[in-house]
Amino acid sequence: MFLPKQGMNKEQVLEKLEGLRQNDVKWRNGKLFGGAFHVSNEMEDVVGDAFRMYMWDNALDPRDIQSVLQMERDVMSIAAAHLGGDENVVGSFTSGGTESVLLAVKTARDWSRKHKPQITEPEIILPITAHACFHKAAHYFGLKAVVVPVNTETFAVEPSVIEEAITPNTILLMGSAPSYAHGTIDPIEDIAALALKHDLLCHVDGCVGGWLLPFFREAGADVPAFDFSVPGVTSMSMDFHKYAYAAKGASIVMYRNPELRMEQIFTCSGWTGYTIVNPTIQSSKSGGPVAGAWAALNYMGHDGYLNVAKELHKATQVAIDGINQTDSLHVMGTPAMCLLAFGSENLNLFQLADALKERGWSVQPQNRKGDVPESIHLTINPLNIPNMEPFVDDLKAAVKEVWDAPKVTEPDLVEGLAAMPADLEMDPEQMKGMFAMLGIEGGGIPGRMAVINEIINVLPTPLADKFLTFYFNELTRYRRDEA
Ligand SMILES: Cc1ncc(COP(=O)(O)O)c(C=O)c1O
Repeated sequence: MFLPKQGMNKEQVLEKLEGLRQNDVKWRNGKLFGGAFHVSNEMEDVVGDAFRMYMWDNALDPRDIQSVLQMERDVMSIAAAHLGGDENVVGSFTSGGTESVLLAVKTARDWSRKHKPQITEPEIILPITAHACFHKAAHYFGLKAVVVPVNTETFAVEPSVIEEAITPNTILLMGSAPSYAHGTIDPIEDIAALALKHDLLCHVDGCVGGWLLPFFREAGADVPAFDFSVPGVTSMSMDFHKYAYAAKGASIVMYRNPELRMEQIFTCSGWTGYTIVNPTIQSSKSGGPVAGAWAALNYMGHDGYLNVAKELHKATQVAIDGINQTDSLHVMGTPAMCLLAFGSENLNLFQLADALKERGWSVQPQNRKGDVPESIHLTINPLNIPNMEPFVDDLKAAVKEVWDAPKVTEPDLVEGLAAMPADLEMDPEQMKGMFAMLGIEGGGIPGRMAVINEIINVLPTPLADKFLTFYFNELTRYRRDEA
């Protein structure tokens, strides 16, 4: 696209945008088990109106738009009370789970630099189920990610495994409540006790579950202690843009006390412009997300969230029972909330994901890593609630179809790919050749994914990452010959 010489009118702009959407996933139909969180059209209006009211306000300087500061304090106060925190708990409103985790890890690094200056090569211990954003944080901030396995029955980490991995360089332990991939909660009380014993910081990743788990507990689910009520937990992340149903760009990172949060804030008066005091990664930022989150919390209230949690709890049970009753499938571990993974001893799950896609369902295939086998993930959100039984019916039909279908990859190919050297270098032409062999050219988006998913599943991780990076670099390039 080139900049039009003359601008379009509003109708033309909106019509063009509407036209662009035709290939987008239709998440409103409740057939996407993923990252769209929506309770009702009324709620969407309230959050949308609040967002719009503040979207042009710059939340860079709290002295300018003081109401944004007040909203931040309000949501912080609600969040701290929700997660067992006292008045000492402080936090920052961020753009999402990844930013919250990046900040918690940076804070741990800077805290340790100050309090443990003898550590020059800091390490953070991550169960293999920790969200990828912890790896991103380690990568961005120059820390070593020490990855430890999880129990292959429960898909939670064993405290003894964490303790064995602690070295004089360790600065941070973490656990998920729950993990994204399998929806299981790590033993937070034990991990936090280890942190106390070894004088370490301990982060609980409640990005996906921090908000909903207390409501699930009230709805009758068995939810162990996972928050600031646990001694030794020093920081937590929790997203509003997931199960608090706020608009995207809304999360919070919290610390047990203000001394720790001091390490998060970046201040710079050493240049010729305005003084920067940035608690988070962004500097100029819209007031929209915090207004949206404030509106969501106040509009839903405790009872609104509890009612949805009860429905999600029931719907998840329908899914779990249906999956476990489906020939050759089983739910992995015991999901604590409404995220789960299911696996199979003998069925090709990547073909199954494609067969579900053809029936309109979007599910997420997950790769085998370490001792954890490949799986299909479901994030059950409110829009899915009325669809659980039809989903289970289609799942059964899709399984039957995959049993009868020919395999999409040869075992020899899979073995060959798995044996490829992890540090193999390929130039861009060779990479393009590989993608062309898979039928993907010019940064296109493939329809059926089974073969590609299977390749990514078996390639050594560094090589798979290289391929994916190359692909994405191509995908996001513009083409001059495009209409
Ligand atoms: C447990 C967990 N942590 C972190 C994140 C990252 O959150 P975001 O996608 O908002 O950056 C997610 C996202 O699903 C998550 O489930």
